[in-house]
Amino acid sequence: MALKSTGRGRAEGDDVDALVRENVGKVKSLFHGMNKFRRLEMVSLEDAVIAFIATLKREINVLRVISPVKSYSEYTYVHATNVSVITLFQAEALGMKGENLHDVGIATLMHDVGKMFVPKEVLEKPGKLNDEEWNQMKQHPVAGAKYLSALPDVPKLAMIAAFEHHMKFDGHGYPGMKRTGKKQHIVSQMVAIAAFFFDALRTERPSVRPWTSP
Ligand SMILES: [Fe+2]
Repeated sequence: MALKSTGRGRAEGDDVDALVRENVGKVKSLFHGMNKFRRLEMVSLEDAVIAFIATLKREINVLRVISPVKSYSEYTYVHATNVSVITLFQAEALGMKGENLHDVGIATLMHDVGKMFVPKEVLEKPGKLNDEEWNQMKQHPVAGAKYLSALPDVPKLAMIAAFEHHMKFDGHGYPGMKRTGKKQHIVSQMVAIAAFFFDALRTERPSVRPWTSP
């Protein structure tokens, strides 16, 4: 399912163009840093990701959802962009195409929107979180899914990925779903892999120095 444009004025169009240019630049610089994976089919992936990001020009609702995230926390926004690229890479390798691939991109860009509801001093705290702060941080999957469910035209997959991306395949993680017997959606698993085993290690945060590619 594709999101619909709701129309825009000139100033908003200029903002969108700037965001698209910025995202394409980020995608390119990410690829330049991924020497270890260069032997894989990066050219087709790069084309697919850039084409996906270019569709944001027509899909203003996506930008309306993620722009507040960018204003609230630059790190969370950059993280979402990187996770989106890596997850699209996994999705393409698994044979997903067209609308499915597109929805994966939308869902991954929006997966951490719930962090807008985590107090900034907790979200950007340099150093370890205490129990109370950790509890606040753990609310963001539910807050994000709730926020997205109230918006029109958001793919169901975006709510699922927002809710499940900190769950683990065996039912651990949060929010706790062990009792329901439900399995984590494959796209939520892909987001989890991208987020925790790649992007979180590579992106500089106040308290953590990034890994570098070999
Ligand atoms: Fe998250």
